[in-house]
Amino acid sequence: MLTGIIGAMAVETNAIKALIEEKKVESFSGIDFVSGKLYGKDVVVAQCGIGKVFAGICAEAMILKYSPDRIINVGVAGTLCEEAGLLDTAVSTAVVQHDMDTSPLGDPVGLISGINIVKISASESLCEEICHAANRIGAKCVKGVIASGDQFIASKEKKAYIRNTFDAIACEMEGAAIGQVCYVNGVDFAVIRCISDNADSEAGEMDYPTLCEKAASNSQKLIEELFR
Ligand code: ADE
Repeated sequence: MLTGIIGAMAVETNAIKALIEEKKVESFSGIDFVSGKLYGKDVVVAQCGIGKVFAGICAEAMILKYSPDRIINVGVAGTLCEEAGLLDTAVSTAVVQHDMDTSPLGDPVGLISGINIVKISASESLCEEICHAANRIGAKCVKGVIASGDQFIASKEKKAYIRNTFDAIACEMEGAAIGQVCYVNGVDFAVIRCISDNADSEAGEMDYPTLCEKAASNSQKLIEELFR
């Protein structure tokens, strides 16, 4: 069983990379892939860069070069709901691209043409595994739809739009792109996101700069527990 782990930023991946033994680094499409053993289990870890396109490039390259059995997207997110507070963990039941919109053509918002899906389901068993690991380390785990788009959400109007349109619990910028790539390749996936901000007017200047590092560290500790 080989697990792929993708995070957008160095702060979201460096702690996991540091734990890998029998390390080998290869570069494809400008992305470094670090493969080896995490607590004796096969992994490949990559920092994809920010946004859906980099995330898609990374997931596709990872699948073509390493054939992972499953991919986990790890990192931080803004919360869209009451249940997932700052530094709690959101785990995907499904992912959606909140900025995908061909509704002027009569489609539902968020529809991914071609595969004709709005919400792509994540692996139920993998999400269960993640929530069990979260319980073991006392992290609050909230399961639900995670919404991705090429925008940092920092207004109550946009936050409400995404929550109300897609019934989503958290917003970030990569998970649903990775989910789409996994879907078309038949690879299991899940998204783990520790909440760094409230996705409101305080998000950009207050919460995120203060909590990003701690939230990124928490999400990697959960990955660690998953493999320990
Ligand atoms: N990642 C962390 N917080 C975010 C936000 N508010 N919007 C988009 N991506 C995020």
